[in-house]
Amino acid sequence: VERTFSMIKPDATKRNLTGAITKMIEDAGLRVIASKRVWMSQREAEGFYAVHKDRPFFADLVAGMTSGPTVVQVLEGENAILKNREIMGATNPENAAEGTIRKTHALSIGENSVHGSDAPETAAEEITYWFSQTEIVG
Ligand code: GTP
Ligand code: MG
Repeated sequence: VERTFSMIKPDATKRNLTGAITKMIEDAGLRVIASKRVWMSQREAEGFYAVHKDRPFFADLVAGMTSGPTVVQVLEGENAILKNREIMGATNPENAAEGTIRKTHALSIGENSVHGSDAPETAAEEITYWFSQTEIVG
């Protein structure tokens, strides 16, 4: 089985969607094996999204991620990385397929409700960024 890293972003936690989004993840067959609620600091958000630091939307992205609580999670299951990307839907909710988390709940490309790792290397890095080994109970 594979593990991936997931976030329920502030736009979603502010609208009380933590349970609704977690249910969509579980209904897809993924297991939540670690979960905690964090209010990211500027430094944590900038570090997490460092890959995007030269993009024009970086300041907006960091502002959004520090605007309220985020629920960070580790998900486990068969093909967890790809499966989670499928149930999230496209980055821009206007392009997301029916039934996906972003089509159902996201407000815009900047307030798109969830994050999910895009490859095994980033999944491992992102899990380590937020969780210690003892917080993950598989
Ligand atoms: P993540 O799972 O969050 O990494 O989304 P992604 O892989 O679908 O998108 P990407 O890694 O390209 O971008 C990271 C995040 O930056 C997205 O989830 C968006 O919230 C935000 N973002 C990307 N492009 C834009 C943009 O053009 N405008 C704004 N405001 N935000 C953007
Ligand atoms: Mg990405």
